Amino acid sequence: MTSSLEHDPAVWARRSLDQLAPSERTLEQMAERFLAFAEFECLGYAPFYQGICEAVAANEDILDIARQSNQGQPIPNLFLAAVHYLLLADISHPLARFFASVESNKDAAAEIFPEYRRYCSENRDSLIDLVSDRRVQTNVVGRSALLMPSFGIIERHAQGRPFGLIDVGTSAGLNLNWDKYRYSYSSGREFGPSDATVRLESEVKGGKFPDLPDQYPEVASRAGIDMNPIDLSNPADLLWSRSLIWPEHPQRARVFEAAASVLAQNPPALFAGDALDLLPGILETISDDAVPCVFHCHTLNQFTPQARESFRDIIETASESRTIYLVSAEGGTLVVSGCSSGAWSVLAGANCDPHGRWVEWLEFA
Ligand SMILES: C[S@@+](CC[C@H](N)C(=O)[O-])C[C@H]1O[C@@H](n2cnc3c(N)ncnc32)[C@H](O)[C@@H]1O
Repeated sequence: MTSSLEHDPAVWARRSLDQLAPSERTLEQMAERFLAFAEFECLGYAPFYQGICEAVAANEDILDIARQSNQGQPIPNLFLAAVHYLLLADISHPLARFFASVESNKDAAAEIFPEYRRYCSENRDSLIDLVSDRRVQTNVVGRSALLMPSFGIIERHAQGRPFGLIDVGTSAGLNLNWDKYRYSYSSGREFGPSDATVRLESEVKGGKFPDLPDQYPEVASRAGIDMNPIDLSNPADLLWSRSLIWPEHPQRARVFEAAASVLAQNPPALFAGDALDLLPGILETISDDAVPCVFHCHTLNQFTPQARESFRDIIETASESRTIYLVSAEGGTLVVSGCSSGAWSVLAGANCDPHGRWVEWLEFA
């Protein structure tokens, strides 16, 4: 099993354009970026956006808008979300109505692209404002279907003590409320409140599934850290988060909206800043009778290799006084581990879909 802290060099090569300043990006490079996104991120998952990206790659006016994207952000995701944001804010527009019920196929993209192109041209200034200001901070609730069994595994090791949760790269904090959701796994197991409004389904591949306690562990505290926490009580931030969900995935949008309502009733503590600065202090706030349980989903891939080392150092240092548990879901690999007195032990590992749609458990300690 690959380490969760490794990153895929091919993905980084494709994204190197995103790291350039807008003035350094050529239209040819932009076209390649959209084509690569269509092939590697949309193919087999989002045919409508695949078709839109292929058409965008052949349109210099739109590429010139996307070229203004914020440095360091994934350009196609940012641009697609910016168009979606304006459409969600203007639901009477014919293109918005098309998006609201779009079929997940490439024919739909070909049918609508002339209108899409016109819309981008008419809204050029607003789109440039959005792509040069906003960030891609999708908060994927489906990842809770990976976290819940991971926490069940930890509970067996922690012998029933309450959890002090810390979500590193929390975005809006939706996965900190994982214990308020209901889960249905293809292995036939169901967990969580029967009246939960957030209901997640996940396929179990390979037949293995952890032996989980019937009850969720008690959660003593919930803290999320993010460079830029998303405040879903702010209507513009709520709309931006919603626009990051691709229009051909309406079920994800329904789950997001239900989770946002749960969050409004159960807001966790969110801290703004670099996790490397904040994590040591937040770990210290976890009460002595609780189990510190740190998790990160699709966040450490945004750290430099040196920052990932520092992150491990922080956990190892904190583990001198008590065991720190860590759940890492990065790049299709899930690892559940514990660290005591600086020594790591892996409790379980799995291959997984980055959005939690399936999981294949590999080992249990
Ligand atoms: C791709 S999003 C994932 C959000 C969430 N974990 C999820 O799975 O839905 C990554 C998040 O990590 C945050 N982030 C990246 N580097 C960070 C750092 N050094 N400290 C705190 N947050 C960071 C970003 O701001 C972003 O919100």
